[in-house]
Amino acid sequence: MVVSNHHLIAQGIKRAFKTDDGTELVALSDFDFEVKQGEVVALIGPSGCGKSTFLRLVAGLDTPQSGELTYNGSPITGPDPNRGFVFQQANLYPWLTVEKNVAFGLKANGTYKENRHRVQEMIDLMGLAGFEKSYPHQISGGMAARVAIAQTLVMDPDVLLLDEPLSALDAFTRAVIQDEILAMCVKFKPIVLLVTHDIEEAVYLADRVVVLSPRPGTKVAEIPVDLPHPRDRISSEFIAKRHEILDALRFE
Ligand SMILES: Nc1ncnc2c1ncn2[C@@H]1O[C@H](COP(=O)(O)OP(=O)(O)OP(=O)(O)O)[C@@H](O)[C@H]1O
Ligand SMILES: [Mg+2]
Repeated sequence: MVVSNHHLIAQGIKRAFKTDDGTELVALSDFDFEVKQGEVVALIGPSGCGKSTFLRLVAGLDTPQSGELTYNGSPITGPDPNRGFVFQQANLYPWLTVEKNVAFGLKANGTYKENRHRVQEMIDLMGLAGFEKSYPHQISGGMAARVAIAQTLVMDPDVLLLDEPLSALDAFTRAVIQDEILAMCVKFKPIVLLVTHDIEEAVYLADRVVVLSPRPGTKVAEIPVDLPHPRDRISSEFIAKRHEILDALRFE
């Protein structure tokens, strides 16, 4: 990663979809957002409020109807390996080993030779050592989630888009992978956008929590989490942050 001040700015974003009866379903409306290099921002909001839609826009997989979305001052016009997306369902290649799944992107873009050391580095970082030769059907769900993250990290992204990557996991595995994500953030200092429904996860990982309203999603609160790492999940400060976020999520 080239060390510079990467930043992502969204201003007045609107994304609407046409429904079958011809009406417009507005997923995101007037959404403003800003994040700079090294920041971990959690996006929290009710189901259907446009969180995944926003990550897709940042990934360049979709375009807004209106508003501006820029990365380092230039409009986002399409996908870029610099902005890596980890989907909720780990989409591993079943016919490839863990090692080859992690190496896939490098091979696809012809940079495997000079970066092959990164494959083992990411495998080690995500706690997958010893399973290099295993196939996806031979590993657990938690390990598959780790492979999906390693697969994205190996491309050395400046922006990491995590769409509920840990939601299918048990609390213990989730806690272990959360620490692996934190270690990765300290090492690579990417921009991280983390969509989660888990308020504890948001407070544990994020520098800032952005709360979205029910659809059409728009920002209703922005809560800084300025607690030092590693965070103590049962400290009074931690619990106070959880309450603050819960309060912001009461929409009635
Ligand atoms: N390609 C699409 N075509 C039509 N409607 C869509 C499309 N993608 C998303 N939507 C709609 O936009 C709204 C926002 O969807 P999105 O997936 O962004 O929500 P979300 O906040 O990620 O929800 P969840 O927390 O359940 O994952 C939903 O009502 C969804 O039905
Ligand atoms: Mg979603």
